[in-house]
Amino acid sequence: MSKETFDPTRYNHSANEPFSSVLEKKLSRRDVLKGGAAFAALGLFSSFGLAGCNSSSSSDDEASESLSLGFKSIAGSKTDAVVVPVGYSAQVLAPWGTPLNSIASEWKSDGTNTALDQANSLGMHHDGMQFFPLDGSSTDGLLCINHEYIDSNALHYDGAIRDSEFVRKEINAHGVTVVRVQLTDNGWQVVKDDAHNRRFTAATEMDISGPLAMTAALITPFSTAGNKTRGTLNNCGNGSTPWGTYLTCEENWPGYFVADEATMTEDQKRIGISSLTSGRYNWHDQAGSADEVQGEFSRFNLTPTGANALEDYRNEANGYGYIVEIDPYNPDSTAVKRTALGRFRHEGCAYGKLEAGKPIVFYSGHDSRFEYLYKFESTAMWDPADADRTDRLDVGAKYMDSGTLYVARFDDDGKGMWLPLVLTTPSADGSETLANSFSSQADIILNTAGAADIVGATPMDRPEWTAVDPVTGTVYLTLTNNTQRTDTTNPANPRLNNAFGHIIRWDEVEGSNEFDWDIFVFGSPEDADAETNLSGLDEFNQFASPDGMAFDARGIMWVQTDNGADEVTSYTNDQMLAVVPSKLVDADGNQEVLSASNQAELRRFFVGPNNCEVTGLSLTPDQKNFFVNIQHPGNWPYSTNAAEETPAGTSVRPRASTVVIMKDDNGEIGV
Ligand code: FEO
Ligand code: CA
Ligand code: CA
Repeated sequence: MSKETFDPTRYNHSANEPFSSVLEKKLSRRDVLKGGAAFAALGLFSSFGLAGCNSSSSSDDEASESLSLGFKSIAGSKTDAVVVPVGYSAQVLAPWGTPLNSIASEWKSDGTNTALDQANSLGMHHDGMQFFPLDGSSTDGLLCINHEYIDSNALHYDGAIRDSEFVRKEINAHGVTVVRVQLTDNGWQVVKDDAHNRRFTAATEMDISGPLAMTAALITPFSTAGNKTRGTLNNCGNGSTPWGTYLTCEENWPGYFVADEATMTEDQKRIGISSLTSGRYNWHDQAGSADEVQGEFSRFNLTPTGANALEDYRNEANGYGYIVEIDPYNPDSTAVKRTALGRFRHEGCAYGKLEAGKPIVFYSGHDSRFEYLYKFESTAMWDPADADRTDRLDVGAKYMDSGTLYVARFDDDGKGMWLPLVLTTPSADGSETLANSFSSQADIILNTAGAADIVGATPMDRPEWTAVDPVTGTVYLTLTNNTQRTDTTNPANPRLNNAFGHIIRWDEVEGSNEFDWDIFVFGSPEDADAETNLSGLDEFNQFASPDGMAFDARGIMWVQTDNGADEVTSYTNDQMLAVVPSKLVDADGNQEVLSASNQAELRRFFVGPNNCEVTGLSLTPDQKNFFVNIQHPGNWPYSTNAAEETPAGTSVRPRASTVVIMKDDNGEIGV
């Protein structure tokens, strides 16, 4: 999350509150009723179809008919250990600081590893993740792991002096790891010195593609042509592509940059660049160090000091805020920032159900209070042969550099509209177009959220990950919480002071920019009143603050939490739940939402150790090995057995880790 890096400031000061009164909130509740949630809480749901999500029936699909969760929901837990269902085990596979090659020293428990060690070892605070099989194997492949941010206390040794080495260690603990992992007789192992192993840090050179490439906004002393930048920051959720590349998402990056407020541009204010005194890690404070190379620290201060962009780093932050594509199979490749997909606090990036001859779409949420949901639609039509090409970043350019970026407006009748962010799109009141405020598509992308304000997008309760049901094509979005929604709601975000979050979903309407939506489940403590516990959750599935979320290939939806609500944290640490949405259908085949009558279908599969967030997941192709990330644990791991509790009175230097879960009978996970 962001318990440390989440920026609670409301940067969206647009008037986009289309249903902007408590009165209307009450009226809009009827739409929630129509969607089924509240009736469901009363046990009346079964006679109501969903207006929104009736486009497909799982009865058409044999795979989902035979799919059923095969584990018993586990109780909550508050220990320095992970908990998995009976019949499963969990191994600590790839903790922060694990050397990728022989350049790096082994991880040291006193924190004395160097910045160079860190650049050649796993980064910190694992988040989104994907397993890429080698030759289709389920026992040998590459893990791409995001490293969202750092715990400075754990990273540095006691008494470390803040100098250029200190700051480089922090920079090198950010970014992404690509690491080969194999299943051996002794469990899963990291393959040290494998040729695929590499780190992308907050300083690694990357290419810029799409509308902002080669524009004046990207010119810096490092990239005089405006086609390169250095590093990726605050890599939170992830995605992947049908052609075998990894997508890492730059989330709360604006706080890493500072600027004199008097010099801030409109887009810098809108996205939330820090003032000179409010920077997150203040890496710019090492500017002018005797050993500073190519402005490596100076670049984090955007305040203009020279005559133009070639003489200072005023444009440095314009190279951040993107979906970044990485080809894990080609260790010589350069990561590419795909600017066409918008510039904001990207949480994740999921592609829609593929159809040959149709565009590919990617969904991405902007994680901040009152921010928006976006969709990118490729100009190129999907050719399944591209899935097998080995020039993967060229395929990425084909589908991700040219297309239309849309932002979502959720209307009050279970309908919604994708609004194109192009110069000709009218403002919400119809009085002008985006051309009155922006000069080019690049200009729109640079201030994506500012353009979305004008066209009347719907402010949401912190959009996190999106996920696409492989059976139905229905798209799901976690809305983690929003405790600043004190006086206005809208139908898609119907709760005032939404402390527990919800998951919304929608189906695209073929051949139009419309979609049909409803709310799938509301987070809640189990003992809350019916107004709050709208989905009828009980002890064995109560949750709050849904965040990480993905479907596996079979159609199980896995939901991870990043919870700060005492009502649930007093019962359990952060967790991961499972449900098969395509199986929840009424007699007519209409998809149902979670309710008191079917809530046993939502089951708790995993609980993390104290103080952690559970985030990032991926399964091997045979569905038998489940990689899950533990971020910012408090006093864990104690051993390679992830379920072994750190003994009372023992204090360990905490390490974010990838955990791999397997079934003791070597069966498929979850069923
Ligand atoms: Fe990095 Fe939105 O959680
Ligand atoms: Ca979060
Ligand atoms: Ca997250």
